[in-house]
Amino acid sequence: MVIFKKAADLQAFIAMKRSEEPLKLGFIPTMGALHEGHLSLIAAAKKQHCLTVCSIFVNPTQFNDPEDFKKYPSTLPADTEALLNAHCDILFIPDVQEIYPDGFDAVKSYSFAYLETIFEGAQRPGHFQGVGKVVARLLELVQPQYLFLGQKDAQQCLVIKALIKQMNWEHKTAVVIVPTVRNEQGLALSSRNLRLSEAEQKQALALYQSLQLIKAAKSNNNFEHAKQACIALLQQNNCELEYLALADAASLQPLSDFDRQKEMMVVIAARVGAVRLIDNLYI
Ligand code: PAF
Repeated sequence: MVIFKKAADLQAFIAMKRSEEPLKLGFIPTMGALHEGHLSLIAAAKKQHCLTVCSIFVNPTQFNDPEDFKKYPSTLPADTEALLNAHCDILFIPDVQEIYPDGFDAVKSYSFAYLETIFEGAQRPGHFQGVGKVVARLLELVQPQYLFLGQKDAQQCLVIKALIKQMNWEHKTAVVIVPTVRNEQGLALSSRNLRLSEAEQKQALALYQSLQLIKAAKSNNNFEHAKQACIALLQQNNCELEYLALADAASLQPLSDFDRQKEMMVVIAARVGAVRLIDNLYI
């Protein structure tokens, strides 16, 4: 694996590789604290025979809560080791100056319409603006043919697809969504799980159990009834619910009740202790 801190060096290396043989570039943007979920994205890129680039950059512009930014785990030595073992080809670890050379506001903003007003957009004002800025910049620097994203951040996946459309890059970069990786009990893997105590990890299982409960209730045709049972379950487990909602899986437009004509998704966000977790499930 080759490691680059400077975009110019990364680009020169990719150009050299391209001059040797035709290649497909697969890109996995991350903020580090890598887990099996991230490694499944690397595996997906390798399976498609991509020259695989992973970036680690904790993007300041997407944190609406400065405390969250400060506490974001940093585990570069372990991440590097994990990427080596996963046969990642290139690791790109730019600093803030490299990504935002003219300051945060100099980078073009994109608008994601209703996606910025529901669920994660509503709970984390400005978050998707920051994601849009950094992903646009990374795409321009890396110029990948494939972008691999995790299903756990379903709304982020839609935002990034909308970004690529607005950039007129649909012919350049195809988005590949990879299923969520869970631990044995069902907890969706997340870098934030590192901040959960053992007791909190058990309590956090109530998120996935809630998603399963809603899925099982689909045949009864009463979403609100199932939601009330989930609220009780979450309370018993000290999970502070932010939202639990049913949505059209393709657009994430909220639905008031089950609609068998549509592929649906249940989305959830809750705080377990000081840690905010999200999850979702196709139903
Ligand atoms: O999902 C993430 O880790 C981040 O939002 C991303 C896509 C790397 C942008 O900073």
